[in-house]
Parts: sequence; structure tokens; C-alpha cells
Amino acid sequence: MTDLSLAALDIEDLRQMARRRLPKSLFDFIDRGSEDEVALRHNRAAIERIKLRGRVLNDVSRRDPAITLLGAPQKLPLLIGPTGPAGYVWYRGEIALARAAAKAGIPFTLASTSNTAMETVLEEGGGRQWYQFYVWRDLEMSMKSALRAREAGFEGLVLTVDSIVNYSRKWDVRNGATFPVRFTPRNVWDALWHPRWLLGTMGRYVRAERGLPRYVNIPALDGVPLADARRHLIKNDTMTWDFLRRLRDLWPRKLIIKGILHPADAVMAADCGVDAVIVSNHGGIANDAAPAPIEVLPAVVAAAAKRLTVIVDSGFRRGGDVLKGLALGADAVMIGRATLFGAAAAGEAGATRALEILDAEIRRTMGAIGCADIASVTRDCVLPHSDTGPASLSGDAI
Ligand SMILES: Cc1cc2nc3c(=O)[nH]c(=O)nc-3n(C[C@H](O)[C@H](O)[C@H](O)COP(=O)(O)O)c2cc1C
Repeated sequence: MTDLSLAALDIEDLRQMARRRLPKSLFDFIDRGSEDEVALRHNRAAIERIKLRGRVLNDVSRRDPAITLLGAPQKLPLLIGPTGPAGYVWYRGEIALARAAAKAGIPFTLASTSNTAMETVLEEGGGRQWYQFYVWRDLEMSMKSALRAREAGFEGLVLTVDSIVNYSRKWDVRNGATFPVRFTPRNVWDALWHPRWLLGTMGRYVRAERGLPRYVNIPALDGVPLADARRHLIKNDTMTWDFLRRLRDLWPRKLIIKGILHPADAVMAADCGVDAVIVSNHGGIANDAAPAPIEVLPAVVAAAAKRLTVIVDSGFRRGGDVLKGLALGADAVMIGRATLFGAAAAGEAGATRALEILDAEIRRTMGAIGCADIASVTRDCVLPHSDTGPASLSGDAI
């Protein structure tokens, strides 16, 4: 067994381990962005540009990265975001991620297009869990998933409002990673060349569940082969804020919307009674012309005016990145690929290792900038104009 504490010293190490274990087509599917990958690169560049200036001679011998999010205490200022292919990179990868989150004392979000029954993930994963909800053109079918998540007892419902149009990813088409999967000599060889994944993940589904992974959380599609199911999964692009108001009446617990970038949308969300917004560009896999969430964050936080909890994601790979998000006003940071790479590399142990790495880096950076707790991580820690310049600093974009 690989000692992950030596093999994976940062998230990039886990990414490389995932690259070695997965077929190229699946690795590209989780790693790459859309179109020219401008948004994907820009997410990183925008975070890297920000500089944290520390204060010295503060006693930072006891550093505590705990926060309270939506009324509940948690040990780290992180959440695990929804990633559809979690069950493809590891057998029941959703449970692996949920358990890692529960152990770290943070919430986990289960994707609509996951492959393990939501009730099973809740029960076997434990901890605080949210259910991510896509609205398909078949509204009735979509609502059944939300009602099922309500019955199951998820703490939060996350309505994803970006990526309502299918994004363009040419390598998925070239790799045959489409729906239905296009088998070519190259991708068949690619799968055979990665026996740890082929036998350890796909082989286990075949042995334990007598078939390949299916969309088991979209009730009308349970039992439908993936290739056929995908034909029904056309996102609903007719949604308006009225839908959100109706959803608010229907969902009794925390309601979160994911994928806003404009401050005016934060105001609309607050007016609709939403509890939290996630400032996100879907990790650079939707609109390739989108700004980096971190650069619009200050304006969204200003517009939310404490009526909403504000979470940010897209491009966070280091503990220092997380502190930049918090310093610019986010209440917590959601991570997508960092823990997905961990799960792809080594299941629950790999996802746990990703969170350990981020935890250690958060504590280390807190020490370096003179902050013993998260309440001290404020705008004052950010070197002025090292983020995105005056427009987002002042909230002028509203
Ligand atoms: C492979 C992959 C699949 C994703 N699937 C979903 C999904 O099903 N629903 C959703 O709301 N977001 C999805 N996302 C977006 C993530 O929830 C999150 O916004 C994004 O990964 C954050 O960026 P990061 O990967 O740079 O941390 C996905 C992201 C990736 C990389």
C-alpha cells in the first residue's frame, strides 16, 4: 500500500496519481475545461495574483480554522462540491467523498448525476450532506429528485443555475467520452491499459451491481442504461426566478443556489429567501468567457449585505487560496477537483489526504499571516489591488 502522506505532498501530487490510475479519456473529463480553457486557467491566475500580507508578533501558537456555516459549526472553512463522475473514478466514489468530508467535519454535496443511491450515500457516508439539483427539460422528472432528497433528509438543496447550456469540450468528443460512449480502438486500449481502474472500479460495478454505473438518483431514469438516459437529460433553459420562489416553498431546509457571478443575482436570491449562494463558474467547464469567481466575489459579498451566506469555488488548490477567498468575504470555500483527484487516486483515503493537505496548508498560512482564527482573516490581509482592481473592490459592478 502506498503511504499517501509521503506520496502526496500537495493536491498536484494527487492529480498526478489520478492521471496514472484513470484512462486518459476519464482523466481529461475531470481535469480539463471548456473551449480554449481560458476560464480554467484564469481561475488559477486570478487566485495566484492575490497577495496576503501578514501581520507579525501576534501569538499564533494555537491556530483554529473552524467556522460556523449556516448555523452549524465545522472544523474547516471548506465544503466538498458536487462532481457528477465521482462514481466513475472510484467504485461508489460518492460514499468515499462523503465519508472523507464527515471525518473532516465539513459538508458534502452529492451530484444529481451520481451513480449511488442518495439514501445509501446519506446513510453510509454520514455527516452533513447537501443534494445538488439540476432542472431538466422534463420538469416533473426533475422535481421527483428534489422531493426524494427532501424525504431522504438532506440538510441542503443546491440548485445549480449555471451550465444550463451544454458546454463545448472537444477532447471529450475526440476521446469518445460522449453519451453514448463511442468505442474506438484507442479508448478501448486506454481502458485496458489502466487495469487498476478497469477492474477496481468498473469491474466492481459489474460484479456487485451486474452492470455499469447508472443515474440512480433521477427516479424516472433508474434502470435505464446510461447511453439512453443521457438523451432525457437536457437542461431546462426556461427557468426564471419564479421557479426559485416555488422551490423555496417546497424545500423546508437550507436552500442554496450555485453558479452566480453577478451581484444583482445575489440580491435576487436573497429576495427569493435563499439561504446561501455559491459564486462559481463551474470550475471553468461552462462559459469559457466567464470571470474568475474570486474576482467578482467582493462585489457579490457587498450586494448580499449579510442577508446571505456566500460560498466561493473554482480553482482552489492550496490552503493559502482558501484564505484568500475568506479574506475577500466568502464564508467558506467549496472544492471540486481537489478532493475528486484524491478520490480518483485512492478512494476515501485519497479524498481524506486531499483534505489533510488543505487543512495543514490553511493552518500554515494562518500562522504566516498572523491569524489565529478565521475571524481575523479579513480584507486587511489582502494587499490592496493585488486582487482585481477597483471595480470589484468597491462593489461598483452592482
Ligand atoms: C468533473 C466535474 C464534474 C462536475 N459535476 C458537477 C455537477 O454534477 N453539478 C454541479 O453543480 N457542479 C459540478 N461540477 C462543478 C463543481 O461542483 C465545482 O463548481 C467546481 O469543480 C469547482 O472548481 P474546482 O474544480 O476548480 O475546485 C463539476 C466539476 C467537475 C470538475
